[in-house]
Amino acid sequence: MKILAVYSMKGGVGKTASAVNLAYWAARSGRRTLLIDLDPQGASSFYFRIKPSRKSWGKRFFKAYEELLQHIKASDYEHLDVIPAHLSFRHFDVLLNSLEKRRSRLKKILRGMKGEYDLVILDCPPSIGKLSESVFNAADRLLVPVIPTTLSERTFHQLLDFFEAEDYSRKKLLPFFSMVQQQKSMHRNTQSNLTNGKVRFLETSIPFSADVENMGEHRAPLDQFARSKPANQAYRQLWQEVESRL
Ligand SMILES: Nc1ncnc2c1ncn2[C@@H]1O[C@H](COP(=O)(O)OP(=O)(O)OP(=O)(O)O)[C@@H](O)[C@H]1O
Ligand SMILES: [Mg+2]
Repeated sequence: MKILAVYSMKGGVGKTASAVNLAYWAARSGRRTLLIDLDPQGASSFYFRIKPSRKSWGKRFFKAYEELLQHIKASDYEHLDVIPAHLSFRHFDVLLNSLEKRRSRLKKILRGMKGEYDLVILDCPPSIGKLSESVFNAADRLLVPVIPTTLSERTFHQLLDFFEAEDYSRKKLLPFFSMVQQQKSMHRNTQSNLTNGKVRFLETSIPFSADVENMGEHRAPLDQFARSKPANQAYRQLWQEVESRL
C-alpha cells in the first residue's frame, strides 16, 4: 500500500482538484483507493457527493485504524472509497500536540489499511503545523501543486527549507505546475526558474481551465463531464506519471 499526500501550505493552488481527479484515475487503473479528506472545509468529500458523519469524531481520529474504518464511505466509482472530512478535524494540530509519538501516529494508523487498499490519498488543508508534519512522515510521496507565480514559488522554497531543516527527505516531493496560463510571461518565467531548481518538477502540468472550476457544479471528477477536455487529459497523464514514481 502506498500513501500519496496532496499538499501545499498555500491555499487555493489545486490540491483538492488534484486529489479528486487522481483518486478517480487511480481507481480506474484498478488500484483499491481510499481518499481521506483531512481538510475541515470538506471540499473533496463534496466533490464526491459524500456527507460527513454526523458524529463529531475528530478527537478519535488518531486513536486506531479501526476508528477510521467506521467512517469509510463508498463513492459512486468502483475501487474508490472516501473518508469525508468533519469540522472537528480543525483541531488536529492541537490534538496532535498533546499526543505522544505524534510524528509517527498517522503513519501507523494508515498502515492498518494495508490489507484493504493499494493506495491512500490524503487531501491536506493549507497549513504547516503538526498535522502537516505527520503527513510528511506518513506519505511515501507528497504531490505539491505549484502555480507558476512569485508567491507560489516563494512558498515552494519555504517548503524545501523546512524539509532541509527538519531532515525530511526531499525525494518524497513531487512538485508539479498547476493552473498554468502559458500566455502569461510570469508563468513562463517562473516555470523556467523552478524547472532548473534543486527538485525536479513532474513533466505533466495542469492548465488553467474553467472545466476544473465546473467540478463544483457537477460534483464529479472531470472525466465524468469533460472527457475530451485538456484538463481531464492532463490529470490522466499526471496520474500515469505519479504512478510510475510511487
Ligand atoms: N486547473 C485549474 N484551472 C482553473 N481553476 C482551478 C484549477 N484547479 C483548481 N481550480 C479552482 O481554484 C479553486 C481552488 O482549487 P482547489 O480547491 O482545488 O485548491 P486547494 O489547494 O485544494 O484549496 P484549499 O487550500 O482551500 O484547500 C477552486 O475554485 C477550483 O475550482
Ligand atoms: Mg483543498
